Amino acid sequence: MAEVEAAAALALHDVSCTFVSKHAPGQRYTAVRDVTLTVGAGEFVSVVGPTGCGKSTLLNVAAGLLAPSTGNVQIFGAPLTGVNARAGYMFQAESLMPWRTALGNVMAGLEFRGIADAKPRAEEWLRRVGLGGFGDRYPHQLSGGMRKRTSLAQTLALDPDIILMDEPFSALDIQTRQLMENEVLELWQAKKKAVLFITHDLDEAIAMSDRVVVLSAGPASHPIGEFVIDIPRPRDVAEIKTTPRFIELHAAIWAVLRDEVLKGYAQQLQVKATA
Ligand SMILES: Nc1ncnc2c1ncn2[C@@H]1O[C@H](COP(=O)(O)OP(=O)(O)OP(=O)(O)O)[C@@H](O)[C@H]1O
Ligand SMILES: [Mg+2]
Repeated sequence: MAEVEAAAALALHDVSCTFVSKHAPGQRYTAVRDVTLTVGAGEFVSVVGPTGCGKSTLLNVAAGLLAPSTGNVQIFGAPLTGVNARAGYMFQAESLMPWRTALGNVMAGLEFRGIADAKPRAEEWLRRVGLGGFGDRYPHQLSGGMRKRTSLAQTLALDPDIILMDEPFSALDIQTRQLMENEVLELWQAKKKAVLFITHDLDEAIAMSDRVVVLSAGPASHPIGEFVIDIPRPRDVAEIKTTPRFIELHAAIWAVLRDEVLKGYAQQLQVKATA
C-alpha cells in the first residue's frame, strides 16, 4: 500500500476544510471532512457531487491555493507546501486576461516561468486546440468555446504533470462541449498526465475517466463511492453513451449520487429561505 501511495501523482490524506464566517467569526462551516483521494500518474479521475458540496474546495487544496484545516497533500510522494508547481489549473470561471490576446494569454504562464521559446510554444498549442488563426484576437472577440480552448492551451502549454480541471466545459453548449471533451481525451491520451476533473455532470465524468469518485452532499462532504470505468479507449464521448456498459455504470453511480443531489438541493433551498 505504501508503495502504491508513493507512486500517486496526487494524494489527499484525511483532508478537512473548515471556513470561518466573515460576518460572524464564531460561525464555522466544514465543507469537506476526512477526504482521502488519490490520482495515479497518468490516471484520469473525476469527482462528482452535488452543487456546493466542496468540489472546488478540494481542487483548490490540490492546487496548493488553499491549505487544508487538517490532513495533508502529497505530490509524487512529497508533501505539498505552497502552490503546487507541478500542476496546471483550469478554473470554473473564465480566467483569461482581457487585455491580452489569445496568444498573449497562452504565453503569459510560459513567460512567467522564464521559458525562452514562449511564443512558438504558445503558437503551437493554439494550433493544437484549433485556434491557429486566432492568436491575435482578444478574449471578447472569441466565442465561449474559443475562450475555453484558449484556457486549455494556456494550461497544457506549461506541460504540467498534473492537470486540475474545475467544470471546465459547463458553460458550453452540448455540441461544443462534446467536441472539447473529445479533444481533451485525445490530448490526454497522447501525454497521459494525471488529471483531476471536477464536474457535476455524471455523463461527462463516466465518458472521460478511468475512475469516478462520488462526494456526499455537504456539510462535511466526503467520498461515498468510487467506480472504475472499464470502458475501452480511445472513446468518443457521444458514442459511448449508448453502449450497455456505459448505461450500466451510469445506473450504478446514479444510485449513489441521486440522494446526495436531492439533499444538496434541499439545503440550498433552506439557505435561501433563511437568507
Ligand atoms: N472561502 C470560503 N469561505 C467560506 N465558505 C466557503 C469558502 N469557499 C467555499 N465555501 C463553502 O464551502 C462549500 C463548498 O464550496 P465549493 O465551492 O467547494 O463547492 P462546489 O462543490 O465546487 O460547488 P459547485 O458545484 O456549485 O461549483 C460551500 O458551502 C461554500 O459556500
Ligand atoms: Mg465548484
